Amino acid sequence: MSVTHAPETADVLRRQDPELAEILLGELARQSTSLQLSAAENFSSSAVLAALGSPLANKYAEGYPGARHHGGCEIVDVAERIAVDRAKALFGAEHANVQSHSGSSAVLAAYAALLRPGDTVLALGLPYGGHLTHGSPANFSGRWFDFVGYGVDAETGLIDYEQVRTLARNHRPKAIVCGSIAYPRHLDHAFFREVADEVGAYLIADAAHPIGLVAGGAAPSPVPYADIVCATTHKVLRGPRGGMILCGEELAERVDRAVFPFTQGGAQMHTIAAKAVAFGEAATPAFAAYAHQVVANARVLAAGLAAEGLVVTTGGTDTHLLTVDPGPLGVDGRTARGRLAAAGMVLECCALPHGDARGLRLGTAAVTTQGMGEEEMAGVAALLAGVLRGETDSQKAREEVRELAGRFPPYPG
Ligand SMILES: Cc1ncc(COP(=O)(O)O)c(C=O)c1O
Repeated sequence: MSVTHAPETADVLRRQDPELAEILLGELARQSTSLQLSAAENFSSSAVLAALGSPLANKYAEGYPGARHHGGCEIVDVAERIAVDRAKALFGAEHANVQSHSGSSAVLAAYAALLRPGDTVLALGLPYGGHLTHGSPANFSGRWFDFVGYGVDAETGLIDYEQVRTLARNHRPKAIVCGSIAYPRHLDHAFFREVADEVGAYLIADAAHPIGLVAGGAAPSPVPYADIVCATTHKVLRGPRGGMILCGEELAERVDRAVFPFTQGGAQMHTIAAKAVAFGEAATPAFAAYAHQVVANARVLAAGLAAEGLVVTTGGTDTHLLTVDPGPLGVDGRTARGRLAAAGMVLECCALPHGDARGLRLGTAAVTTQGMGEEEMAGVAALLAGVLRGETDSQKAREEVRELAGRFPPYPG
């Protein structure tokens, strides 16, 4: 990736608003000198950033191409049509809606398209890696729908598929949601489809995390199985922050109306253009190689951490993410996260399948975009464990991280 975008923007901003320019540059420096091991983040390309910072940001465009409330949409209409066509081709979907402002907005629209308030929905419980939109009482989903949660096996960490079937038979949900913020394994979409059909439920796949791997052929696609697939565009997929919905022709109109006008107003045309750029990138052989490298890196990281004594949930990963229990090294998840942050390794806490202790969630999407490979992942695992055991001083670890990140700049100048 070449980076012309971020510094140029900063130049313009520096002249007008030095205070904010410093913040932009400070964040660029933070991202470039630490390790982004968050499973939810990535470095989008300069082309994606250019679309985001373009005059399309000025355009109001309520509605859909060819049927807008606002005038002057003839050019942004083309951008949206390209984004839709590229998303359909990339994922083999009959219909794509690229207007959702975020992953949560996409899930909201999926529920709006298929459900009525008070309906029962079966989804992975929040303590096991369900997202806020999968029934949290603090979220619209938990307030407006009657969520029933399935779980994972406390020992293996794997989804308890038999429990899914039993709960579906007992509760007869209107929809079943498959998808998670922290599940490291591929989902058995065919199984979820079979259970949904048995109980007459819709199947909603919340593929926010794996959709980029799906694009690169490194994970199985939920598209042939789910009635609606919701996704984010900013994780492994490496696009702008935003959401997307895929479905069959028969639900296309309901989904479109559920996005606009039911849950959103004007589309964000700069983001839609940036999504189109990202879909174009994701259709290339280079992206397929990237997606496979992301998984290879995650596997090496998981094996390295296991060898250091951390407990890796499910014993490994099929994807870009892994969750680990640092308990055997004598630290709880929150303390571990703090120590690692001080050393420049940025990641989150997560739930663990066994008990109430917090674990750590890590991902390899961003470091792989930087060009790091298996060798670097083995080094990161050793460094991380050294910090958690208190063997490696955090200042020394911070210097090692700075040196490593410096060899793999996300936006080489
Ligand atoms: C499974 C899942 N669904 C939905 C979302 C929501 O995405 P956003 O943060 O863009 O609203 C996320 C984000 O992490 C997610 O992991």
